[in-house]
Amino acid sequence: MNTHPLQSRVILVTGAGSGLGRHAARAFAAQGASVLLLGRNERRLNGVYDELVAAGFAQPAVIPFDLSEADEPRFQALAQMIEREMGRLDGILHSASHYVKLGPLSQQHLKQWQPTFATNVFAPFGLTQACLPLLNESPDASVLFTAEEHGLKPAAYWGGFGVSNAALIALAKIFADEHAQQPHLRFNVLIPGQVASPMRNRTHPGEVGELLRQPASLMETYCYWMGPESAGRTGEIIRP
Ligand SMILES: NC(=O)c1ccc[n+]([C@@H]2O[C@H](COP(=O)([O-])OP(=O)(O)OC[C@H]3O[C@@H](n4cnc5c(N)ncnc54)[C@H](OP(=O)(O)O)[C@@H]3O)[C@@H](O)[C@H]2O)c1
Repeated sequence: MNTHPLQSRVILVTGAGSGLGRHAARAFAAQGASVLLLGRNERRLNGVYDELVAAGFAQPAVIPFDLSEADEPRFQALAQMIEREMGRLDGILHSASHYVKLGPLSQQHLKQWQPTFATNVFAPFGLTQACLPLLNESPDASVLFTAEEHGLKPAAYWGGFGVSNAALIALAKIFADEHAQQPHLRFNVLIPGQVASPMRNRTHPGEVGELLRQPASLMETYCYWMGPESAGRTGEIIRP
């Protein structure tokens, strides 16, 4: 059995400083990948960096980056930096997400929707688009978007967060369809369910974290979809 299926792959993880992104970055590194850790909070990213180096994994890179403020030139510059420093890119896990407090649409404001859409929709689009030439050169590239259940099943009070997740799922499907003839380049959506994380604390304050699914229990799934075993599978919505 190959215990390092991600050996020599370079994987970019957004939202790598906490929650599922942090766990996934560690799981990918444990399987041999070089991971690029992207998020806003540099201190938290450095903490993940130290953890991976201490574990003896391939040296990661820290990319402090605010996805809500990025535009095309910044995404292009990021892709060029990855090409210059790493020479390749084999996967992106989009795990960053901006959350707006739940509430009725009548009480939501465009000012709340703007950073939500910038982070949850424009950034996954802009970043993936900028990285396409690099991903296209990989023999087996996997782009994994992370969405929330209410993107599939819109319901009262999920407001801009729910709408942005619906758009994200549509985005992934369109990327997948447009690359259906390129089996080395795949796009899938993972909906992780109810997982103990900083975001879950914000969406459901008062819940007992120990009773929720733990991020570590999902890492086999994350590695499967990022790795060679899922090669050729695209346009799927994964609900472990
Ligand atoms: N936990 C659940 O129950 C659950 C359920 C369904 C879906 N999900 C999805 O799983 C993914 C991961 O969430 P999580 O639960 O692990 O929560 P989390 O720990 O809060 O992760 C979200 C990450 O997004 C990053 N982020 C937010 N805004 C950003 C920006 N403008 N630029 C760059 N990074 C930004 C945050 O890092 P910084 O603050 O450092 O920027 C944080 O690391 C999300 O897509 C979420 O929608 C989670």
